[in-house]
Amino acid sequence: MNSTTAPASASPLPSFMPFTPATTSWLYTTGAILFTLLALEQAVYRYKKRHLPGSSWTIPIIGKFADSLNPTMEGYKAQWNSGPLSAISVFNIFIVMASTTEHARKILNSPTYAEPCLVQSAKQVLLKENWVFLTGKDHVDYRRSLNSLFTRKALGMYTEIQDRIIRKHYKNWLETAAKDASPKPIMTVARYLNMDTSLRVFCGYYIPDEATKIISDKYYDITAALELVNFPLALPGTKIYKAIQCRKEAMYWLTLAAKKSKEAMARGDESSCMLDEWIRNISDPSWKGKKEFSDHEMAMVVLSFLFASQDAMSSGLIYAFQHLADSPEMFAKVREEQDRVRGGDMDAPITLEMLDSMTYLQAFVKESLRVMPPVVMVPYTATKPFPISENYTVPANSMIIPSFYNALHDPEVYPRPDDLKPERWLDPKDPANTTPKNYLVFGAGPHKCIGIEYALMNMTLSLAIAVGAMDWKHDITPLSYKVQIMATLFPQDHCRLAFTPRKD
Ligand code: HEM
Repeated sequence: MNSTTAPASASPLPSFMPFTPATTSWLYTTGAILFTLLALEQAVYRYKKRHLPGSSWTIPIIGKFADSLNPTMEGYKAQWNSGPLSAISVFNIFIVMASTTEHARKILNSPTYAEPCLVQSAKQVLLKENWVFLTGKDHVDYRRSLNSLFTRKALGMYTEIQDRIIRKHYKNWLETAAKDASPKPIMTVARYLNMDTSLRVFCGYYIPDEATKIISDKYYDITAALELVNFPLALPGTKIYKAIQCRKEAMYWLTLAAKKSKEAMARGDESSCMLDEWIRNISDPSWKGKKEFSDHEMAMVVLSFLFASQDAMSSGLIYAFQHLADSPEMFAKVREEQDRVRGGDMDAPITLEMLDSMTYLQAFVKESLRVMPPVVMVPYTATKPFPISENYTVPANSMIIPSFYNALHDPEVYPRPDDLKPERWLDPKDPANTTPKNYLVFGAGPHKCIGIEYALMNMTLSLAIAVGAMDWKHDITPLSYKVQIMATLFPQDHCRLAFTPRKD
């Protein structure tokens, strides 16, 4: 019998598959190719990893994707503790984790070898033409022109706006508490507070109230997509797809705000937000960073500020509320300082000069961010082979991720590193102050956070007004001190607080 006509029943394989020698050979060939590719994948992984700690083989194709979906602080710490440099692979992206302060600083300060890649989804969400993806001189020049948005004069104007918005939100918090005094998680209300404050500072009233709420609610979709490595395709229903829809909605309002701000400034209206300040600067013939910015470009910058600030500031603020609630002694010190600096008038707006005098609260904010840094690491890409140490060169195109957490918990610099001690920052001779290189809360190098002063000011102001106007009690649950990692860090129970108007 001709082998090509052999009945299917002669094959050991199930008879519903019409196997012929031709298909069998095709199957063998495909199998052999697959086997070779999988073996190659392991060989490449081992070749890149060399002597670094980490599994000696990687799960085919997906690698540690499952772990990256549900990251835990315990998992990160185990990885960092495995060595100064260690390796993993996710979806065939080779990743080097760097745990020491020296390695972290070297990565952040070596723009010719490594540049930030944010998370994998960032270019899809923020648009690939966004300024945050510029490198080298283009990045330096663009960033220089944006620095003018964070001068002391500009920060003074932002303080007035923030003060107004923050008080409005706390009034709502207290009204809700008056109806139901039970403790409630502050996650959602604190995130809305931050989004509303940011949008009003950046865009003033060129964005209607309802749009700030829509953006705030939908923004959660962007947060959810900020995983280290996502499912690669933005198919409907995926996290990246939803994040892109949110960006489109936000960009609509931000572009409109840029257009309205230009019209208002052309009419000679008074400057009342960051966009206005920016347009004033651009129109000033003596301004050094002279450059035209389209409405779309301005909207992308504001989007980048929201992207970079919303999760980090919410995380920082929520932990600060929790830390203060858990330490009545620190709470009392902050309140004493508030009464002193604000002359007992808690209704008067807080000025930049008053914020300057709140030295204890500033130290508290700095320390709270150190103990629970919102951003524990930032992914970078090696643009060429990067000789990170004497005996290891990170292969080109690998992800390389500096840890900030270890630098911020170094017992040499911060004795009893897990203890929250604002006093560290009040003594100029304390190692915390004499070793500033370890304070990596805002990163370092050319991509160091551009909003540091703004962020610290916003957190200090939010807490100052809260301590001046409200008492609060923490409902400690078994999840209060467990960490949820959602791009940034949050208490797993989302910090359950009960607020009442200030009594004393
Ligand atoms: C507590 C709040 C904040 C924290 C912890 C934080 C932290 C960081 C960190 C760790 C980086 C990466 C630095 C690096 O790669 O070395 C960064 C970058 C950045 N941050 Fe922040 N940030 C905060 C608030 C803000 C705010 C309020 C803004 C804007 C108003 C902002 C805008 C940016 C921008 C635009 C970048 C990218 C800068 C560049 O690539 O040149 N951040 N931030």
